[in-house]
Amino acid sequence: MKYGFFDDKNKEYVITTPKTPLPWINYLGSNDFFGIISNTAGGYDFYKDAKLLRLTRYRYNNCPYDSNGRYYYIKDNETIWNPGWQPTQTPLDSYECRHGLGYSTFESEKNKLRAKMTAFVPIKDNVEINKLELTNISENVKTLDLFSYVEFCLWNAEDDCTNFQRNFSTGEVEVIDSTIYHKTEYRERRNHYAIYHVNHEIDGFDTDRATFTGFYNSPANPDVVKAGVSKNSVAHGWSPIGSHHIKVTLQPNESASFIFLLGYCKNKKEEKFEAPNVINKAPAKELIAKYSTDEQVDTALNELKTYWTNLLSKFNIETGNEQLNRSVNIWNQYQCMVTFNMSRSASYFESGMGRGMGFRDSSQDLLGFVHLIPSRARERILDIANTQFEDGSAYHQYQPLTKTGNLNVGSGFNDDPLWLIAGTCAYIKETGDYSILDEECTFDSDANKKATLLEHLRRSFNYTVTHKGPHGLPLIGRADWNDCLNLNCFSDTPGESFQTTGPSSGPVAESVFIAGLFVKYGKEYVTLCQKLNLDDEAKACQKEVDTMIEAITTHGWDGKWFIRAFDANSNPIGSHVNKEGQIFIESQGMCVMAEVGVDNGMALEALNSVKERLDTKYGIMLQQPAYTTYHLELGEISSYPPGYKENAGIFCHNNPWIVCSETIVGHGNRAFELYKKTNPIFLEDVQDVHRTEPYAFCQMVAGKDAPSFGEGKNSWLTGTAAWTFATISQFILGIKPDFDGLRIDPCIPSDCDGYNCVRVFRGKTYNIHVTNPNHVEKGVASLKVNGTVMPSNVIDPTLGEDTVEVEVVLG
Ligand code: BGC
Ligand code: NOJ
Repeated sequence: MKYGFFDDKNKEYVITTPKTPLPWINYLGSNDFFGIISNTAGGYDFYKDAKLLRLTRYRYNNCPYDSNGRYYYIKDNETIWNPGWQPTQTPLDSYECRHGLGYSTFESEKNKLRAKMTAFVPIKDNVEINKLELTNISENVKTLDLFSYVEFCLWNAEDDCTNFQRNFSTGEVEVIDSTIYHKTEYRERRNHYAIYHVNHEIDGFDTDRATFTGFYNSPANPDVVKAGVSKNSVAHGWSPIGSHHIKVTLQPNESASFIFLLGYCKNKKEEKFEAPNVINKAPAKELIAKYSTDEQVDTALNELKTYWTNLLSKFNIETGNEQLNRSVNIWNQYQCMVTFNMSRSASYFESGMGRGMGFRDSSQDLLGFVHLIPSRARERILDIANTQFEDGSAYHQYQPLTKTGNLNVGSGFNDDPLWLIAGTCAYIKETGDYSILDEECTFDSDANKKATLLEHLRRSFNYTVTHKGPHGLPLIGRADWNDCLNLNCFSDTPGESFQTTGPSSGPVAESVFIAGLFVKYGKEYVTLCQKLNLDDEAKACQKEVDTMIEAITTHGWDGKWFIRAFDANSNPIGSHVNKEGQIFIESQGMCVMAEVGVDNGMALEALNSVKERLDTKYGIMLQQPAYTTYHLELGEISSYPPGYKENAGIFCHNNPWIVCSETIVGHGNRAFELYKKTNPIFLEDVQDVHRTEPYAFCQMVAGKDAPSFGEGKNSWLTGTAAWTFATISQFILGIKPDFDGLRIDPCIPSDCDGYNCVRVFRGKTYNIHVTNPNHVEKGVASLKVNGTVMPSNVIDPTLGEDTVEVEVVLG
């Protein structure tokens, strides 16, 4: 069954029932102010940081599942309904939710009244706009009561849902005309507040939740709405909300529109204050003045749409495959922006209070984002580098607001440092801007300890070199890419469960995956050194890379595939000698991507083993056979039931590594077959099984050992977005930014006749036209730039004017 359809012309997904298998969400906001919005208008807003500066409340793990959001109640005689169906769940005569790029609309009808709510965050301001339009499509005059509803969060979301002894007494609001000011914390910090405003005179308001709903009711059946009269409650402590009441009379065919603003207002630091809790209303008034008319709001929405059209015009394909075009041209790039903005902080699976920005995660997110807004990628790289430690190791996560490392999680994931090289090289390949390497970045956010970005990368590289185990392979530390492979947690104490706080050196567990990662990005570091004329360093580093390749082929090869790791007792993991967990995906993908074993048959053999042992119709499982029992010496991986998460789930994030690897060995048919398996756009017909949004990649699909084989989880915030985009654009379609220019090297299914791609690269627009007359999978027979045959398939970025015509013939 399908729950909607793609509208490619408008770049929207249209949901036709509120009862999707899971809430299907969208993201609002481009820069600092963000919202999550589900297909029933659930979700919440925050400024910069979903943990520290949250404007509205959301209850995760709630029942019913998705309740709390920006809700508009319409009371039409005895019928009370919401345009987004929740929270009253009154059956609607029609319902349609459109999730677009940075906005969502909800259009519904009930008893001959049509309501359309458009929600978005304008590019330039810190406000969620909800434009509600009501139209009377009956033949009679309609007299309605309209109520709005949001529930304020007392800013720090974690404190807000734990520290009740304090926060039941701190809430403060103020209502002036049609503006509700949420000013909790103001007397203490005096720097910010939130507003909830409507551009209309109101007939009443409420700001105390219990008064609005009635103490034993919920937003599904609020007393105030049932009575049709607000109580003008002013919250003192407890749970502050914002609710406006407007009486509306509509003649037949008449429409009315209401603009609600939920905004974040900030004072200037140097400001003088009248009294502790008298707030400075100037920022609010300024914001309100900008979005008070339909025209202002429509213009802002159009600006947002144009912004997206421009961004997406940087990479656009025309192939014979509609689903592929849709994924590459719209949704995959959109998700790359979302993961860039959110990292792993806020989704319907990430609470916004937990993981913040990941050192590893945000570095990888850049791979799919850097072409969209290189300047923001640059800033992010420097932010990440600023949190690195002097010895090259890294905090695993950092907080988006403070940009400082998260002490609770700490460090010790030994792959982390290398991803900084990956992200930086992706940026330089895209832009040619080597000046980033000269930027001074702190260590551990300490202004007294600084070095250039290049020095940070050098320490990343050397961290691996100086942390190797008995087989000459990198020490794994607490874990590598696979957070759950905790091999240094060995303990003889019965009943002790894994604790990943162990030291990162000392215990000898080693990772073949990090070895592959080191070879792949170590080579890029060598190239950087060469470009900077650091010839001695380049040679010395190349030697380290060669030594690592040697260690992998000598100790990391199991006969038919790459071993995954060695545990704390130097026993192999991911080897035929193991009873379970004999073969893992990560070391196959990373080693082949690093081109280890490409010239001696190991790579091909490894990919064959993946196909034989890990492949399913929904993608490649992380490992097999799944662990059936818990092993202290393996850690969290074996704590999952078979088929879920890292215990033999289909981890979408590293499926593209195998796709990439297949292109490296020239298998275009296989690469594309695999590409489709985890791509939600190709799974629209199995939505009842897959369940997550058909327009967003999810982190994990249950593997074949799980009772719910094929079910997706953790949609949106996953490295899958960036890796899939990098894979399809650079390795399958073969349009690959490289240090010296744009490399064209497709690896496609043999039945593909060709395709066109528009690629904006280093200030020029490349119109690339690929043909495949001999139906090969790989190999460029000729490449012309503006009609001239080129000696290589790397296009020199200085050639041509603003628009460059590129003709590629495969064969
Ligand atoms: C968890 C893993 C999970 C990862 C990302 C880790 O802390 O242990 O299960 O895959 O975070 O969600
Ligand atoms: C999700 C995490 O965000 C990522 O950093 C990790 O590599 C994977 N899970 C695998 O454990």
